Amino acid sequence: MKLVSAQSNRPEYSPNSGLQRHLISDLPTAADIRPYLERIDANRWYTNFGPLVCEFEQKITALLSAADPSPNHGTIHSTTMTSCHLALEIALRLVGVSPGGKTLIPAVTFPGCALAVQHAGGEVIFGDVDPSQWVLTPETARLVAQKIKLAAVMPTALYGIPLSAIAWDEFSRDTGIPVIIDAAAVVEKQEILQNGLVAHSLHATKPFGVGEGGLLVSRNQDIIARARRSSNFGMIDRVTQIDGTNAKMSEYHAAVGLAQILRWPMIKQKRHEILGFYKKHLKPFANIVSLHPAIDKAVVSLLMLKFKQPVIDKIAYTEGVPLHRTYLPPLYHHPFFAGVPVADKDGNLLPGDNSLKKKTTHMTNSEMMHNHIIGVPFHPFLSEDDIAFVTLTIQRLARNGGD
Ligand SMILES: Cc1ncc(COP(=O)(O)O)c(C=O)c1O
Repeated sequence: MKLVSAQSNRPEYSPNSGLQRHLISDLPTAADIRPYLERIDANRWYTNFGPLVCEFEQKITALLSAADPSPNHGTIHSTTMTSCHLALEIALRLVGVSPGGKTLIPAVTFPGCALAVQHAGGEVIFGDVDPSQWVLTPETARLVAQKIKLAAVMPTALYGIPLSAIAWDEFSRDTGIPVIIDAAAVVEKQEILQNGLVAHSLHATKPFGVGEGGLLVSRNQDIIARARRSSNFGMIDRVTQIDGTNAKMSEYHAAVGLAQILRWPMIKQKRHEILGFYKKHLKPFANIVSLHPAIDKAVVSLLMLKFKQPVIDKIAYTEGVPLHRTYLPPLYHHPFFAGVPVADKDGNLLPGDNSLKKKTTHMTNSEMMHNHIIGVPFHPFLSEDDIAFVTLTIQRLARNGGD
């Protein structure tokens, strides 16, 4: 592999540049939020589905509906939550995951997904991912479902890249197994399932951040009404009718959400621009590193690079660039999930009591991601010079990875 010497044309690195952290949140300023806070002062209504939460829900649902590529599949409904984690847990209970209900999730995702299944009483199974799409596919889920009875499948739209709603709807229709898409970072770009639920995170680290918050979305009005009730202890008129918890968004978070809706076109535009800089500066290195093939469909949340050569051991060679390994290692490496069974991409199951070594041999695609994928800084405060500097570091990382 021919590599240019990076040392000679290395740009000056300013310690005040956007390279201080791999992720810097892009939330509204105090001035942006002030008019909404004044409304809270006037209303003296702070939580329990106040006027700002209702307005935010109505506006974000309108935003999702305006972007809906399949309006003939039904009207979109949504309800706010305190987090995506609780949105997932509530969704799992609502689709019928009960004690012992086996739930397939990808091996490469946020640990909170596995915890949501466990907190809902379900038994987690980690499925291997597709080597080019990096996600759990309906094909793998079908193969697992032929071997064991699944209560639900919860794929993740990883790194802000949307999943095919059509493919997951087909899976659900053919098998009768409910699907919940964890589209934590994919507000607006994830098509809403015809059957099933989609959960979003409004955490500060996500492109549409409000601080802490979540959104549960579906075309089924009744399930969203029940989710809303579940987020308030399952109560109607202070009497608990169904299972529930406290997952209600406060008026303060809705204030940030309303300000964020106005900023959303600018947020998308800026992220698009940063992605463009990365594409331009990575072009000369196309023989050693690639982006996700569907990256253009995302409002990029985290930018991950796939190296031709394994780079897991080279993460130390970062030279002032804050690289990261979000969602890696795969969840079966986490000590807390050691007992969880794993299924390879052909649906072959390996019980959780096997050694990590055996699991790593079984889960070839998740291991490929573990060994070949690294995240680079991605946020709106990066300059083109920062990005040029990152890409030169990437080139050195690849060179240290051998050829
Ligand atoms: C894929 C995924 N799912 C779920 C969550 C949980 O989101 P929240 O922090 O809103 O609970 C996250 C958070 O980072 C995530 O990345």
